[in-house]
Amino acid sequence: MKNPDLRRVDAHEKVTGTARYGADRVPDDLAYAMFASATIGKGRTVAIDTAAAEAVPGVRLVLTRFNEDELRGPGFLMGGGFAFQSLQPLLSDVVAYRGQPIALIVADTLVAATEAAELVRARYDTEPFAVGIDDEGATSVLQEEAIPLPWFADVKVGDAETAYAASPVQIDETYLHPAQHQVPIELISSVVEWQGDRLVVHESTQNAGALRHGVATQLNLDPADVDVISPYIGGGFGSRNALQPHIGPLALAARRLMRPVKLVIPRPQTFHTGSFRPVSRHRIRLGADPSGRLLAALHDTEHQTSRHDLFPAMYTEMTSRLYAVPNFGGRQSLVQTDVQTPGYMRAPHEGPAGFAFESAIDALAYATGQDPVELRLANDTATDPVTGLPFSSRHLAQCLKRGAERFGWEKRDPRPGSMRAADGSFVGLGVAAGAYPVMVAPAVARMSAAADGRVTVGVDGHEMGQGIRSAIALLVAEDLGVPVQDVVVRVGDTRFAPQHLTAGSWGTATALPAVHKALRELRKQLGTGDTGTVDVAAAVRATGHGSPEVEVTSLGQGQPSEMLDRSRAGLTAPAGPVFPDFTAFSWVAHFVEVRVEATTRRISVPRALCVADCGRVASPVTAASQVRGGVIWGISQALRESSEVDPRFGGFLNTTLEEYPVAVNADIQGIDVDFIDEPDLLLNDVGVKGLGEVTVVGVAAAVANAVFHATGQRQNRLPIRIEHVM
Ligand code: MOS
Repeated sequence: MKNPDLRRVDAHEKVTGTARYGADRVPDDLAYAMFASATIGKGRTVAIDTAAAEAVPGVRLVLTRFNEDELRGPGFLMGGGFAFQSLQPLLSDVVAYRGQPIALIVADTLVAATEAAELVRARYDTEPFAVGIDDEGATSVLQEEAIPLPWFADVKVGDAETAYAASPVQIDETYLHPAQHQVPIELISSVVEWQGDRLVVHESTQNAGALRHGVATQLNLDPADVDVISPYIGGGFGSRNALQPHIGPLALAARRLMRPVKLVIPRPQTFHTGSFRPVSRHRIRLGADPSGRLLAALHDTEHQTSRHDLFPAMYTEMTSRLYAVPNFGGRQSLVQTDVQTPGYMRAPHEGPAGFAFESAIDALAYATGQDPVELRLANDTATDPVTGLPFSSRHLAQCLKRGAERFGWEKRDPRPGSMRAADGSFVGLGVAAGAYPVMVAPAVARMSAAADGRVTVGVDGHEMGQGIRSAIALLVAEDLGVPVQDVVVRVGDTRFAPQHLTAGSWGTATALPAVHKALRELRKQLGTGDTGTVDVAAAVRATGHGSPEVEVTSLGQGQPSEMLDRSRAGLTAPAGPVFPDFTAFSWVAHFVEVRVEATTRRISVPRALCVADCGRVASPVTAASQVRGGVIWGISQALRESSEVDPRFGGFLNTTLEEYPVAVNADIQGIDVDFIDEPDLLLNDVGVKGLGEVTVVGVAAAVANAVFHATGQRQNRLPIRIEHVM
């Protein structure tokens, strides 16, 4: 019942430029804001001279400090609050890191605000600081001691140390993953407007609910008096998954001026005003028998956080599930440094962990003389080795087998450096597997049918380009047998549903079951029976009253209903990946071909294939697009992205897209996509699992493994650069 013709329900709006993103709004009498930022690594502001800034024509307000009665901290997302970090700028003289905002300027024009921001001068008392995990002053704590909550405890199965020590084959490798920034094309931006006592925020956010409740906390408002509108997002990647602390100061400035205010944070400032992916180091030890069967795995990580928040590491949740490992020892440490609090970015933990673990698996294949695909198949498991529960579905072996065939893996000569292209380049073929936990959040869906035949559905979920609108519209259209154009989807808007966080690849797997349930209720109201085509207009008329409307709530399997209250309060409340009767993950296999030019040693990726098991494919076109996006980000992770620091300077140094390269069209050649497309009906009635983030997991390892195959040089750090294959 797929509708293969449907590309994207919002394609026309997007390509014609009529889609409205957060800060596209230009209300009458709009004023423009800009931050001035701290230029020291750490310390205090002693004095801030704003005279020159205030003298710029058109400047209306220069704010350096709010008092605490006016503005409170919104709390840390992972500590029961709403923001990516607990630190609320403009509330004290503390400078926790370079790049932290110290003044907010509001002016009649963007030009005036920008000019004035550059004229703000501060005097500081400075303190020593550490920006890298190995810098003097960085301090390390064991996560399970620092955050004593069961879900942050180390994963331990059996006795991994003993089993590793007794293993005939041992791999012991350490991998370094750099800090990275999400760099969505749409800059972090907001328009705030007071409508009497109501605050309306237009911001492209993945978490309108947290923004509503967070700004209410910041300003001591009733959350019911705040609306957050986020119909489209120009790239999230985790950077918009919580309240950004700028919103409180912006709302206060708007109230003082009695004008709407817009803030578009310039690219360089986004490297310090929002979250980022922290540095992580992974020591992987694998013990195996001579045939490559795993006997033990140890995964020790050090992971960067800020001084003011403990951003938890979750690396071993995935690596302990990839294979049938009878003894697993995870150990995660947090290293506190003087930066803003890191956060989630594109498979935040699974991406770096997948690079490390799947590189070590490749090393094991070479150490045991096994084919890397065969070695992975030999270590497959239908049971979650951590809990002993079955996986709700796991078609990883099928992903690997189908991928090997489709990619032409049998033509690979396993000897490193043995394959050459016609132009003399070294050819390398690499493989890696990946997994991502399936999570499901509570959701509310409201659905109504109108006499003109249109069906409107408002549901928790944000459209960040992944295609959630298309998946919802398709489900409704197919269920009722109505044209997809007659389905109106309202997401990302607190006026229609509470709007929990859309992240962790749970958006579609959360929204669709709620919509499915609403459809059942709507059909009851319309008296149409539970299946079959519905003439909506006729059915509405037959009910004899205006527009029948239903509201339903849905939860993950076994999820207590209090989670719905948490979600309605703007707090994050996903269930999974361990459910009462099963453990749920999405799975992928990646196959990559690299070329390393013989003289310049330039690395390119002419060909990549991803075979994904995401349960039922809800929207074929947008799903394939998600996979291509994941593979592109994986190539970017492998070969391009790194946020640089220097112990002499605070903050991040390469804060533009010229200096923070991401993969561009010239880096991307053939990407082939295939799906297993087997519904996971244990998980939900629709059979969908998560897709977005699993597609990036393992790409970087497949590239690194291919580079080893091409050159014989192991790659234990990212990004892989020319100097690493000389
Ligand atoms: Mo995503 S990195 O889970 O917002």
